[in-house]
Amino acid sequence: MKLSRRVEKLPSQFFASLAAKVTAAVKEGRDIINLGQGNPDQPTPPHIIRALQESAEDPITHKYSPFRGTDELKQAAAQFYKREYNVDLDPASEIAILFGSKIGLVELPLAVMNEGELMLLPDPGYPDYLSSVPLANVTYETFALLEENNFSPDYSALTAEQKKLAKLLYLNYPNNPTGAVATKEFFEETVALAEENNIGIVHDFAYGAIGFDGYQPVSFLQTKGAKDVGVELYTLSKTYNMAGWRVGFAAGNQDMIEAINILQDHLFVSLFPAVQKAAEEALLGDQGCVTSLVERYEQRRNTLMKECRRIGWEVTAPKGSFFAWLPVPKTYTSEEFADYLLKEADVAVAAGNGFGKSGEGYVRVGLLVDDDRIREAIQRIEKLQLFQK
Ligand SMILES: Cc1ncc(COP(=O)(O)O)c(C=O)c1O
Repeated sequence: MKLSRRVEKLPSQFFASLAAKVTAAVKEGRDIINLGQGNPDQPTPPHIIRALQESAEDPITHKYSPFRGTDELKQAAAQFYKREYNVDLDPASEIAILFGSKIGLVELPLAVMNEGELMLLPDPGYPDYLSSVPLANVTYETFALLEENNFSPDYSALTAEQKKLAKLLYLNYPNNPTGAVATKEFFEETVALAEENNIGIVHDFAYGAIGFDGYQPVSFLQTKGAKDVGVELYTLSKTYNMAGWRVGFAAGNQDMIEAINILQDHLFVSLFPAVQKAAEEALLGDQGCVTSLVERYEQRRNTLMKECRRIGWEVTAPKGSFFAWLPVPKTYTSEEFADYLLKEADVAVAAGNGFGKSGEGYVRVGLLVDDDRIREAIQRIEKLQLFQK
């Protein structure tokens, strides 16, 4: 059957080729240290699993969920935002339950944009933002996140035309892939830009829980006026190691939340109620698991930074997320360098250009293997004598 134009136009998954190369190398029996992926390596904390188990025993959870998710989970999300960020949210009108945040990121253009309208996306950025372009039949342009601006956008570089036409602008801090974080002042600037130009803001807060050196990442919704102009997408995937469970939520602007909910009324009945119950437990239960998870990532980041610097690789420490964004030696492109490390050191990293053209010159390294494997990866790279000590 001939596929729809919309499906034919979907971008190919850049990182599928990296995954295939790693799988092929592993099949050859090579001991690959995979720092290229973004999949949390730790298990979901036991109290959350128990909540799922107990809830799954209750036949009430075997029925359809309310279409828009349970009131209890929405209330839990609101309490979570109050506790963590001192943000007030109305559970009924300012929260939409999602099958993970990826779905919300793809749904938003479908829900609020018309054909041909423009969205502005970060470069480098999470590649899945692009999925909605052919699905919603919208257009996009990118804005660069440059190291000299701490990987924040320079709004003065947006053209008058872009500001006039843009319907949505996507942001993501702590940032995948750069590990950069946002300041309160930057979000204030963002609200001002949005108000002046009538642009909807979508803040992807997937790494909201992961800040280092005592820093708690700022929520966009803490900014005065944020709810008038945008939404923030939160996921339980990273905070609670629940990537496979598919649960998250959007919070903020009522019109955008309602648009997501209407679209979802037609696409899904909400998540398995036992998953929603477990998500409540995650958000409201003991948060010690989050503290120790962040400590673990921070320890791994410290090991990575120390080892890189020991071999003469000049690197900047990420302030949040579980990624480090490392510069590539001048004689290589990102992809050549990633291929070289895989071939000669059995170390997989993600080539920066897979996140957009401003990602050229970098590779992304995930902090998702234990300290000793990070150490070993850098020792293997050291043998290639790429850096001056
Ligand atoms: C920046 C960013 N946003 C969103 C997601 C999607 O997360 P999920 O769909 O599991 O909530 C990811 C996952 O890797 C991510 O890195």
